[in-house]
Amino acid sequence: MPLPPGAHILADAEAVARAAADRLVAVCADAPGDRIAICLSGGSTPKRLYALLAGPDYVDRVPWARVHWFFGDDRVVPWDDPLSNVRMAREAFGHGVPIPATHLHFIPSDLGAEAGARAYAETLRDFYGAESLDPARPLFDLVLLGLGEDGHTASLFPGKPALGEASAWAAPVPEPGMAPFVPRITLTYPALAASRWVLFLVTGAGKRDPLRRLAAGEALPASRVTSAGQVAWLIDEAAAEAG
Ligand code: 6PG
Repeated sequence: MPLPPGAHILADAEAVARAAADRLVAVCADAPGDRIAICLSGGSTPKRLYALLAGPDYVDRVPWARVHWFFGDDRVVPWDDPLSNVRMAREAFGHGVPIPATHLHFIPSDLGAEAGARAYAETLRDFYGAESLDPARPLFDLVLLGLGEDGHTASLFPGKPALGEASAWAAPVPEPGMAPFVPRITLTYPALAASRWVLFLVTGAGKRDPLRRLAAGEALPASRVTSAGQVAWLIDEAAAEAG
């Protein structure tokens, strides 16, 4: 099956997670600034990556004191809710990683979708230090993304208004296109594009259909993600129908 440009097929989900961890370490190693901004993906695919980073093979290779952690989207539920991406990441990273509390920039989920999106955009602007994004100075060193079975990424769902947001850095998604059907807050295309690297992690046979549709040239939300740097796809054989 033809694959998006920048696609790498790997044997399985573990190989995808390890390749993503290697890329994250490399992005940190050549990050130009004192602070490193990494935007985490939600869902289930990245859990193994986060556990690897906290594990013996990688924990000493991540410059934890320099990295600031953001989210590409989250559900508008309390951070301890089983649907929360914050809870997923906290459980996956565990409690052993030395992340300074001031380096955790979670999406505010207690303000509602609209006010929360505005507040998160303010958090991003405060960190970036400017009101507008300069392509020569990306906001993120690395953005991690997943692919939904309908072709969404972050909480940018087909046919939803957030797709058309061309200036705000974060947007409310009151009616997501897939379960869980709770309001979301998502980064927008301009914010995702303000990156040195975008890395999609796609595993499992359930992602064959969106990959086929992307390969056929459908303008699914995931296909519209750009980067000031590079976009790469780490895809396992099950999703790529290879092997
Ligand atoms: C979310 C994610 C979402 C996810 C895809 C893939 O909040 O659910 O941000 O965009 O990355 O839906 O999810 P899986 O990795 O669970 O297949």
